[in-house]
Amino acid sequence: MLSCLSRGGGRPLLCLWLLLLLPPASPHRLNQQGRRGHSARERPKLLLVSFDGFRWDYIDRVPTPNFNIVIEEGVMVREVENVYITKTFPNHYSLVTGLYAETHGIVANEMYDPVLNRSFSIETDSIYDSTWWEEAVPLWVSIQKGGGRSGAVMWPGSDVRIHGVLPNQYLLYNSSVPFETRVERIVEWFSAPKEVAVDFGVLYWEEPDESGHSLGPQSPLMDAVIAGIDEKLGFLMNELRKAGIYEKVNLVVTSDHGMAQLSPDHIIELDEYVSRDLYTWVDKSPVVGILPKEGKLDEVYSKLVDANPNMAVYKKEDIPAHFHYQHNARIMPILIEAKEGWTIMQNRSGHFILGNHGYDNTLRSMQPVFVARGPAFRQNYVKNSMRSVDLYPLMCQILSIPPLPNNGSLADVKDLLSQEPTPSTPSVPPKVNENSFAPAVGSFLGVAMVLGFLVFYIRQVTLKQLPSLRHRSREMSQPLLQDLHL
Ligand SMILES: *[C@@H]1O[C@H](CO)[C@@H](O)[C@H](O)[C@H]1NC(C)=O
Ligand SMILES: *[C@@H]1O[C@H](CO)[C@@H](O)[C@H](O)[C@H]1NC(C)=O
Ligand SMILES: *[C@@H]1O[C@H](CO)[C@@H](O)[C@H](O)[C@H]1NC(C)=O
Ligand SMILES: *[C@@H]1O[C@H](CO)[C@@H](O)[C@H](O)[C@H]1NC(C)=O
Ligand SMILES: [Zn+2]
Repeated sequence: MLSCLSRGGGRPLLCLWLLLLLPPASPHRLNQQGRRGHSARERPKLLLVSFDGFRWDYIDRVPTPNFNIVIEEGVMVREVENVYITKTFPNHYSLVTGLYAETHGIVANEMYDPVLNRSFSIETDSIYDSTWWEEAVPLWVSIQKGGGRSGAVMWPGSDVRIHGVLPNQYLLYNSSVPFETRVERIVEWFSAPKEVAVDFGVLYWEEPDESGHSLGPQSPLMDAVIAGIDEKLGFLMNELRKAGIYEKVNLVVTSDHGMAQLSPDHIIELDEYVSRDLYTWVDKSPVVGILPKEGKLDEVYSKLVDANPNMAVYKKEDIPAHFHYQHNARIMPILIEAKEGWTIMQNRSGHFILGNHGYDNTLRSMQPVFVARGPAFRQNYVKNSMRSVDLYPLMCQILSIPPLPNNGSLADVKDLLSQEPTPSTPSVPPKVNENSFAPAVGSFLGVAMVLGFLVFYIRQVTLKQLPSLRHRSREMSQPLLQDLHL
């Protein structure tokens, strides 16, 4: 907060919103501290999990019993429009800010900021430079500024100090830390004594993205990888059960993007059209950010614009509005977007991968899975579509914190919730008379408890009979992890 103020002219609007986030006056804050002291009422809990590159239709491809349990006990959304460009860092930051990439500032995995004259790459420590992240405020920062607690495991940006704040609990990014360890840590944090337990957690896992890149999504070998992810979800659910918090924690399982099949016959070589001396290559295929050398914009553009029918070449000001990908200095003066399945390279000597993402976010192949369960969610409910930016206001509603300005819409997704108003919200007045719900809620709870017990019991029995696939899938994916592209 102080750093925000002392930065002065920097980002006045953002600072204003940070100020508004501060507990407004003493009553609210006293109330929260009183609550903590006397454990009057627990805060709502939410765990957001991302399996990188888990395309929406992977759950239809092999049996995914654990995803099915979440869907039966909760909700699924069939069509989730994520944000452009459909890369890992932009989309993970959108999930926790509700903002399009042009607004939150993490516009790509590889960036150049001409104002700062600095470069960002997910392959270097440049990601720890806070400046890149501070055009937005991720949910964990808001939670903590509001007196709540958060925990983060490997989520992009969550081990970076943003607006002076790190999650109360977090692990430094290390791709070698096994999924099971990540889960154990975050479950520990959720089930800690009330005064220190986290209210909001984010958990990230690199698969099935890595295998999707190296094998290509169409490979039959992907089946085992997907089954392996379902097992991992099962492990997570079991750890929550073992800790006695399965019924308490709202669990959201989604992803940043999907995956498209590539082909070595579908390569665009920029060297055929324009000399490398005329530009700097900033972001990678399939949506390439091109920074022309001083005075060379028009020359580079005219050489590329009609060069190849399998790519669209935009001057920044002509990028289609529906991408919401224009108004940021970190978006380069020329953007080249490959058609689905095509790869842009300078020449063929580069490393070729069989799967990729980053393409148009309205392509089905680019879209992620979305399932959720827990006390805040309806049961056995399938929704047709949402935008990934809608998750942010939804999470704020569940967690009872006021959302910052964002590009999502709670109205568009509130049908996912089990109750229209959230009675535990101190800051948002209930919109409907709660009394009218009371009898219905009562009988609903009764039925839910009985059903919950049955499901749990059946599950325990069936679990024991399932063969373990975990080791198989790890072995299959391990040797393929070269040349990773998040
Ligand atoms: C930008 O930074 C590079 C070093 O990273 C430096 O060589 C260059 O002169 C700087 N450009 C400007 C305009 O300051
Ligand atoms: C990353 O995690 C692995 C596995 O837990 C560990 O052996 C290694 O020391 C860690 N690396 C760093 C830099 O902490
Ligand atoms: C391709 O580009 C690399 C540099 O990235 C260069 O070393 C190589 O000679 C080029 N190959 C061809 C066939 O032009
Ligand atoms: C997204 O939300 C931010 C914050 O409210 C706003 O500044 C921006 O204009 C919005 N973008 C669009 C496309 O509406
Ligand atoms: Zn990836």
